[in-house]
Amino acid sequence: MSLFNGLFSQDMAIDLGTANTLVYVKGRGVILNEPSVVAYHSKAGRKEVLAVGEDAKMMLGRTPGSIEAIRPMREGVIADFDTAEEMIKHFIRKVHKRTTFTKPKIIVCVPHGATPVEKRAIRQSVLSAGARKAGLIAEPIAAAIGAGMPITDPTGSMVVDIGGGTTEVAVLSLGDIVYARSVRVGGDRMDEAIISYLRRQQNILIGESTAERIKTSIGTARMPDDGRGMSELIKGRDLLNGVPKETEVSQAMVAEALNEPVQQICEAVMTALETTPPDLAADIVDRGVMLTGGGALLGELDLALREQTGLAISVADEALNCVALGTGKALEYEKRLRHVIDYDS
Ligand SMILES: Nc1ncnc2c1ncn2[C@@H]1O[C@H](COP(=O)(O)OP(=O)(O)OP(=O)(O)O)[C@@H](O)[C@H]1O
Ligand SMILES: [Mg+2]
Repeated sequence: MSLFNGLFSQDMAIDLGTANTLVYVKGRGVILNEPSVVAYHSKAGRKEVLAVGEDAKMMLGRTPGSIEAIRPMREGVIADFDTAEEMIKHFIRKVHKRTTFTKPKIIVCVPHGATPVEKRAIRQSVLSAGARKAGLIAEPIAAAIGAGMPITDPTGSMVVDIGGGTTEVAVLSLGDIVYARSVRVGGDRMDEAIISYLRRQQNILIGESTAERIKTSIGTARMPDDGRGMSELIKGRDLLNGVPKETEVSQAMVAEALNEPVQQICEAVMTALETTPPDLAADIVDRGVMLTGGGALLGELDLALREQTGLAISVADEALNCVALGTGKALEYEKRLRHVIDYDS
């Protein structure tokens, strides 16, 4: 029976992120990675799902009146339950081969600060999407496992997951969370900071997709040594006369725009270190801090954090996949990591 289950199981681990949702299938790895976006079409007062994931993200900011593109997760929590459930179902269906006889077991990671109501809602969505069993795992633990940190050792490890909606700072020891705090600063806030900087300083209005593109191409957390750095041509709307305008954005401008969110991330790390019991804090000083999540890829963020906190900073390999890989590992090695999965809260 166990061989049979092993061969046919489509057990899954899901990282339900503010920006991206990833699905890991047992024995196969991450096989789906799409933006957490759903587009609806309103027809005669009824809403129909038009697109989910990549296709829906392309519609964000570009929809006519009859179409609405929604991001169901905001700031790390579910802001729109019905849409989140639609999305989870869609992705599970896309991955789940119906050749199996058993319904899958599914583990989903949830922010450390998720309320019991939010946890129940996520579990319910997964069950109604066809899971036979739904487990939850705390996101910082998943991130640390995914980054290959020795979380079950009796030493302190600090992991900082910088996602789209939030930055979660956690200190782990002996497989559990000693300290965790979530701040509502992440990739989205960085995009907003770029938009408002360009509006204030250059009188140009750009959309969220353009801001994200600037951030991922020339974005940097530190002022370039030559005071300017590389630059990129972008298109937006001139706020003075309302016509389209092209302008050059430099890395210095982006660094200035991102100063506030970067400072907030540094402060969150310092607060965590100050609040951690002294022996564990000493371990972190020795071993350094691991960054995960897409925000960890911001240019020179590791360097800026090192300069400001004095700690050694590493960026995880596959930062964007860490949480999904860690959740997947918890599924693969469930016997050993049983205590980190919660099946019945
Ligand atoms: N090279 C890069 N530089 C800066 N930011 C990046 C880069 N690549 C991706 N990002 C940003 O990372 C964010 C997405 O990261 P991630 O997928 O870890 O978030 P998430 O897990 O969906 O969100 P959360 O964990 O808050 O729910 C987006 O805001 C994206 O713009
Ligand atoms: Mg995440």
